[in-house]
Amino acid sequence: MQDLQLFPFDSEISVEHRVSKYPLMRYMGSKNKLVHWIHETLEGLDFDSALDAFSGSGVVSYMMKSMNKKVYSNDFLNFSSVISKGVIENNTDKINAHDMSILLDMDVKSEDFIQRTFKDVFYDQADLLFLDKISSNIGQIGSKYKRALAYAALFRSCLKKQPRGVFTISGNLDRYNDGRRDLRLSMRQHFVEQVAIYNEVVFDNHKENASFNLNVFDFGSKMYKPDLVYMDPPYVPASDDNCYVKRYHFLEGLSKYWKGEEIMENTKVKKIKKKHTPFSYRKTAIQAFEEMFDKFSDSTLVLSYSSNAYPDLETLVSIMKNHKDDVEVKTKPHKYHFGNHSSVLRSNVNEYLVIGQG
Ligand SMILES: C[S@@+](CC[C@H](N)C(=O)[O-])C[C@H]1O[C@@H](n2cnc3c(N)ncnc32)[C@H](O)[C@@H]1O
Repeated sequence: MQDLQLFPFDSEISVEHRVSKYPLMRYMGSKNKLVHWIHETLEGLDFDSALDAFSGSGVVSYMMKSMNKKVYSNDFLNFSSVISKGVIENNTDKINAHDMSILLDMDVKSEDFIQRTFKDVFYDQADLLFLDKISSNIGQIGSKYKRALAYAALFRSCLKKQPRGVFTISGNLDRYNDGRRDLRLSMRQHFVEQVAIYNEVVFDNHKENASFNLNVFDFGSKMYKPDLVYMDPPYVPASDDNCYVKRYHFLEGLSKYWKGEEIMENTKVKKIKKKHTPFSYRKTAIQAFEEMFDKFSDSTLVLSYSSNAYPDLETLVSIMKNHKDDVEVKTKPHKYHFGNHSSVLRSNVNEYLVIGQG
């Protein structure tokens, strides 16, 4: 009885309540609207540790952390894994007033790469100067978890000041300026607000959670042996493309101050090179699923999928059956909004969770 009372406040907070506080990012393909359904499904499965193999915004990792599971969160984008370091792996560290004074006011000589490279691209000079300064000041913070949390707050600040929440458009963005508060605040003001928001979501689930920045095929499944693997890979796009780097290159660059990244100088928005993933192409997707299910075949498999994706459900179920005795599909009708500046398309799709056990 006494044990149960040790952390009365933590245990009284429901998973739904915790997840409702998670800072949303309008991340492409985010499962934030489906996360409660995924939670209900996971509740019926027996597991203590889980890998979120394509963590993206981190919302599913956070839901599993809130279920008191040991969570491994992975994405091949660095900025995504930095977010997970700050809110999934980090159980304890929050940014305090002293850290804030270092972050905001310290005047070490910083580089001016962002001011030079992104002049007239996304933000005004004051914001670019702030980004250069804070990139260097984050390095002055001793705790890797606080640094990651500061980056998470910075990424969300950058997204909020982008009218469409992606980095595909540049130059004069006045036509998107509808006067909303997010576009009026300075980057510094956003950052102060976002730090408070991210501090709020740090909590200790008393598990050694970990964040990884790997291609899914390089994850150490034999070493970490997660009981369950949740997979939410990108889908082969029907048209256009689903490139994450194209949309989020600025955050990916910022997460490492563009160290080791080559800017494509001929692009207006100063993109970095796209990262290849076999899940995005008809030619390679089936083989990629086959290899991934094989790699994690010792774990319970949970795949998020959708009726408008390739390959179709029947094919995926049959591939999973090569590795798991018992394959079950849960279905949920869902409405997607595909926005672009001139139109918003709505499409009805079925969302699936394909679960393989045994
Ligand atoms: C559909 S999103 C995941 C969304 C996430 N579940 C959420 O709710 O925010 C797919 C993610 O897979 C990542 N990704 C794509 N190919 C990958 C690979 N081969 N290894 C690891 N991550 C990959 C992308 O960077 C992207 O963040």
